[in-house]
Amino acid sequence: MKNIDNVKFQDEKNTFKDVKEDSKDINIKNRFSYNIFLIGFMGVGKTTVSSFLSSLMNMKEIDIDNHIEAVENMTVSEIFNKFGEKYFRDCETRTLIELKEKQSMIVSCGGGIVLKEENINLMRTQGKIILLTASPETIFERVRYSTDRPILNNNMNIEFISSLMEKRREKYLSAADLIVDTNDKSVEKVCEDIIKELNKHNNSF
Ligand code: S3P
Repeated sequence: MKNIDNVKFQDEKNTFKDVKEDSKDINIKNRFSYNIFLIGFMGVGKTTVSSFLSSLMNMKEIDIDNHIEAVENMTVSEIFNKFGEKYFRDCETRTLIELKEKQSMIVSCGGGIVLKEENINLMRTQGKIILLTASPETIFERVRYSTDRPILNNNMNIEFISSLMEKRREKYLSAADLIVDTNDKSVEKVCEDIIKELNKHNNSF
């Protein structure tokens, strides 16, 4: 199963209480009626941001990778090894279809969710898509010791991350309703930026 590999984010979770108090200017009491999908490259912090955001906004969360691991009773790496990437991608689509039944969920997506147009359409019809971004250098620092991302196994270097990110860039950008940068930001700040952006755009969505 996936661990939160960013120690900085982990520490900052402890200051959650302070943030909640400091966030008076943010309309955190109003839960959003639609699903909120967090997308972005591996290591942008989707899982960490999702769990913090769900506490902050009192919304339930689902991590698609974790959900697939539970359903398949295998880790993502084992699924890739045993059944291949296509099978895993189909599991992602199946999970998004299941989510049609749910509302007001924070959904943390795997980094490759945008690879299928069908997935982007499924997310669009259910809610809003927030793209988290970070530089290849930041990503590398966050994921360099991770062994549970099959795409990066044997490719753990800035050049590979940078070129894969470039290949996916258009897909991420075309899917996103909102873009929030995570470079040099605490998890609280990222969540604050997300909520502010959502509140700002809520009427125009
Ligand atoms: C993948 C990202 C991973 C996981 C799988 C494939 C990708 O999720 O879904 O290893 O293709 O970018 P995270 O983005 O949460 O690491």
